Amino acid sequence: MKVLIKNGRVIDPANRLDGKFDVLAEKGVIKAVEKAGKLTGSALDHATVIDARDKIVAPGFIDMHVHFREPGFEYKETIQSGCESAAAGGFTTVAVMPNTKPVIDNRSVVEMIQSTARARGSVNVLVIGAITQGLKGEKLSDMAELKEAGVVGFSDDGRPVMNPELMRRAFEYAKMLGLPLIQHSEVLDLTRGGCMNEGIVSTELGLRGMPTEAEDIMVYRDISLLDRAGGRLHVAHISSGESVELVRMAKARGLPVTCEAAPHHFTLTDEAVRGYDTNTKMSPPLRAQKDLEAIREGLKDSTIDIIATDHAPHDLVDKEVEYSEACFGIVGLETALPLTLRLVEDKTLSLPQAIEKLTSRPARIFGLAQGSLSVGKDADLVIFDPQEEYTIDAARFKSKSKNSPFHGWKVKGKVVHTLVRGKIVFSSPDRP
Ligand code: DOR
Ligand code: ZN
Repeated sequence: MKVLIKNGRVIDPANRLDGKFDVLAEKGVIKAVEKAGKLTGSALDHATVIDARDKIVAPGFIDMHVHFREPGFEYKETIQSGCESAAAGGFTTVAVMPNTKPVIDNRSVVEMIQSTARARGSVNVLVIGAITQGLKGEKLSDMAELKEAGVVGFSDDGRPVMNPELMRRAFEYAKMLGLPLIQHSEVLDLTRGGCMNEGIVSTELGLRGMPTEAEDIMVYRDISLLDRAGGRLHVAHISSGESVELVRMAKARGLPVTCEAAPHHFTLTDEAVRGYDTNTKMSPPLRAQKDLEAIREGLKDSTIDIIATDHAPHDLVDKEVEYSEACFGIVGLETALPLTLRLVEDKTLSLPQAIEKLTSRPARIFGLAQGSLSVGKDADLVIFDPQEEYTIDAARFKSKSKNSPFHGWKVKGKVVHTLVRGKIVFSSPDRP
């Protein structure tokens, strides 16, 4: 099986490539990337041809932070539906968080997810193992066993590891195993009962707030532990300006800290909560304008290394309730590209920088083989039209869940095709 992608603007940050190139994939791997029109002759016999004129051709996106609710909450998302949602968003590799039921804290759950993904998943599914057993924050999981089973990092995401002694030991083990700890940075004593950012808006709405200090203190604590224990820290879904500054200072000191921002945190502020739409409720919450600006600045100067969606599907029964009662989280895989392209539109990032944060940077941080269009690598790629305008319709999401605050938004940037190992796993319905 051969696929020739012709005439596109190929952007492959890992290889510093940006220009008109043709890409040939054969038997699932990248066979050649050559100047447009240079690939000719029998090498192209029987190739399926995709004309990518006026489109961007890039390595498939990598999302290091998704929640596919299988096992345990399949009514919200399954590994299969999550993969379909990923493919529709241009993602060819995702890493699933361990807050499933049972929790991903032992080899058998990892293997179950891997085999389900192989059987029914259309994109690459990587697994993140729990730091503590049952995400209870009491005893460490068997991190060595999880590493053997193939996890790419450890996290108790959804919750922080509150006990600093436990976190210190987790750093020591993770260091031995060569994997990062991904922290959901939140001091629970400061956020308990809260449902949105603490500030003027929460006061006006009469909703209990979650202050930014809850995040900042935890980021500082972890940097401090990391400094002594060693290992690597990856801060999940950074949302406060002060936390961005803490990461910036830690990086300046040469500490192995990385972090990610989610599209909703660089697109919306707590002003969006005024309509009491529970699809504006997530953890960490939408923050103030100054935080949003600090996140954009952090993306620009690479303090924030990558973009990750925190795709958190929830059913209507979890969301059509009072604001304070609703589940935290929104789906993100199918809106990440157009929201990221807004950063290009407003000149926060160049298009290659934006693509880098969705491809080669996450690959480098997590030691993945994916994330480039190098010859010999799996032919995982996305073809998108950066100019196409449309209105986001959550009802058409491939995800089982529709909990998005971006429903009805007019945006630009549409995925046309997504390929995994040379196979088309998604094509925009408007472009058969
Ligand atoms: O909003 C969130 N939803 N934040 C988290 O940390 C967990 C996630 C979920 O699992 O729903
Ligand atoms: Zn999460």
